[in-house]
Amino acid sequence: MTPSEIAMRPATAADAELWYQLSTEALAREMSLSRAAIPWEEHTKWFALKLGDPSSTLEVIELDGRGIGQIRLDIEGEHAVISVSIAKGRRGHGFGAQAIARVVGAARLPPGVRTIRAYIRPENTRSIQAFTKAGFGPPTPSVRRGVAVVEMSHAVLVQDS
Ligand SMILES: CC(C)(COP(=O)(O)OP(=O)(O)OC[C@H]1O[C@@H](n2cnc3c(N)ncnc32)[C@H](O)[C@@H]1OP(=O)(O)O)[C@@H](O)C(=O)NCCC(=O)NCCS
Repeated sequence: MTPSEIAMRPATAADAELWYQLSTEALAREMSLSRAAIPWEEHTKWFALKLGDPSSTLEVIELDGRGIGQIRLDIEGEHAVISVSIAKGRRGHGFGAQAIARVVGAARLPPGVRTIRAYIRPENTRSIQAFTKAGFGPPTPSVRRGVAVVEMSHAVLVQDS
């Protein structure tokens, strides 16, 4: 069966709770670099700051009009660092790979940003597969914030003029 089509839209302040649910889900925490618990108050402050930060892009992944995931790009020098999560019951249907490919194809990034880069825990095979399917290069061992990870990169396709 062909997987249903996802839609993507920019996140708004009304998505704080959805984002919190996605970020605090057990596997999402385990696979993130910082595994510390996230109090709601801390999340709401962080989310408001991120929404207002011109170097960050936050998108909600929707299926049939409902939020099923989130994807974020943070510009760091010549890289845009990507992070993604799909709601627990919706994983393994191709939505993660689709969303990543969509963001790579459409993200308008400032001149000077050359690559979109993912930092993934080496045991996160599903994430590595999703990024591979979305056209990222092979995983390369690296360290990010003191955590052993693999790096995967994709050239920036659309540059802001
Ligand atoms: C990682 C994540 C975003 C991937 O999204 P997803 O929608 O589940 O992944 P996809 O369905 O697009 O799967 C991509 C590939 O992974 C592989 N895959 C699927 N399920 C898998 C599983 N249980 N174990 C290993 N690989 C798996 C498949 O090869 C699949 O490709 P295929 O459709 O050609 O078979 C999602 O699983 C998630 O939110 N995980 C928790 C948070 C997380 O790890 N975020 C990423 C941090 S770097």
